[in-house]
Amino acid sequence: GSDEILDRDVVIVGAGPAGLMAARTLQASGRSVAVLEARDRVGGRTWSREIDGAFLEIGGQWVSPDQTELLGLLDELGMSTYPRHREGASVYLAADGSRHEFTGDMFPAGEHTEAEMERVIATLDKLVAEIGVERPWAHPLARELDTVTFTEWLRQQTDDEAARENIGIFMAGGMLTKPAHAFSALQAVLMAASAGSFSNLVDEDFILDRRVVGGMQSVSQNIAAALEEGTVFLETPVRTIRWSEDEADGRVLVRSERVTVRADHVVVAVPPNLYSRISFEPALPWLQQQMHQHTSMGLVIKVHAVYERPFWRDKGLSGTGFGAKELCQEVYDNTNHGDTRGTLVAFVSDEIADGLFRQPAARRRAAILRSLANYLGEEALEPTVYFESDFASEEWTRGAYAASYDLGGLHRYGADQSTPVGPISWACSDLAAEGYQHVDGALRQGRRAAEAILAANG
Ligand code: FDA
Repeated sequence: GSDEILDRDVVIVGAGPAGLMAARTLQASGRSVAVLEARDRVGGRTWSREIDGAFLEIGGQWVSPDQTELLGLLDELGMSTYPRHREGASVYLAADGSRHEFTGDMFPAGEHTEAEMERVIATLDKLVAEIGVERPWAHPLARELDTVTFTEWLRQQTDDEAARENIGIFMAGGMLTKPAHAFSALQAVLMAASAGSFSNLVDEDFILDRRVVGGMQSVSQNIAAALEEGTVFLETPVRTIRWSEDEADGRVLVRSERVTVRADHVVVAVPPNLYSRISFEPALPWLQQQMHQHTSMGLVIKVHAVYERPFWRDKGLSGTGFGAKELCQEVYDNTNHGDTRGTLVAFVSDEIADGLFRQPAARRRAAILRSLANYLGEEALEPTVYFESDFASEEWTRGAYAASYDLGGLHRYGADQSTPVGPISWACSDLAAEGYQHVDGALRQGRRAAEAILAANG
């Protein structure tokens, strides 16, 4: 009941990959921990569901080769991965509606556009290498790059509109899921740096390399299962954090309807757009209150369509498709490990998602399936299972994939975003350097927050 007060060394808010990794790291060093989770499940933005008999990963799922924190954890947990199906030709839908099949890295956008894309990508790679991932806000170019939108920055690089749009969809629709006029060039550099380079980020064979057998949510489920019994409390949204700057009386009191936990430290492992759902007593300092108002979630609909067979493979197609002017700007083969049916996954982002969400569900579905058919053929119109992941309607997320700064926010506040406030520390994929906006970054953040607490306490 609500009268119960638990005593722990550390209380963690949120049982996504970041919070659970923090708990795992702290318990491994003998600290007592409680994890309070609002939802009735662990995993946060990773979530596997059975929809009309089909196994669907409706949140985060892909693993790339640079994501060594995640890959290491998968090893530790005895879990395995499998590659995304990519054999066959990919499809590029050009702005004029023409359809092109291609193999290799670069889509057949025409000689001039391809050359311009290569040149701009090389420029971005150079910037990313120079600025790095750890402290982009500290680079001499930070302010200049953070006060120009990515749209405008691309315009400064090339007159070739198709080149700008093609690069734009990878970063805007494909990653930050905001229009390219809504985030800065520095934010784009951070996103690219988090994957090692811009080239890695736009290489689907790299960034969408493998999936986890059993689904990405099972990583969180397995971490939770390895915690001491009675550590994780579900359906326990935290409402209030009472804290003090004064180290002498330094304990925190974290309240939910279900349990109240007293602890020396609290790790807030929820996305920054949700910090204001918690009442802090006393209120957080001006810096955090301001900074938190300058981040917001992107918007993307992840579409799943399951067919009796992966019909596109019979036509020599990989299932991969790109089209800057399409409703679905990206489509991929997402067939499950060992499944005889074929599954496609596609994404509808930012302003296009606004437009589709305003339509009745049946019209939205028809429009999305039409887009899939433009890539892969008329068979795409008749899936046996169809589902749209909508994290924007989830109270405890409110968008997808993750949160990013508005124009100018990153250089202004990035340096302070992970600094603890008294006994309160922050951990989330949306604050990560390597693995930013990904499960890998969430795990790194959880471990980092836990290790800082351990270091501070000998
Ligand atoms: P996350 O949001 O996962 O967890 C936070 C937890 O805190 C949630 O469980 C929430 O319920 C809880 N919470 C919030 N407020 C609370 C409160 N007041 N009290 C208690 N609990 C509270 N990544 C990737 O690596 N590969 C991919 O392919 C994709 N693709 C992808 C697709 C889609 C559709 C989405 C939505 C996301 C992805 N991602 C991804 C991103 C990835 O899922 C994401 O980066 C991580 O799940 C973030 O983990 P965190 O623990 O940081 O936050």
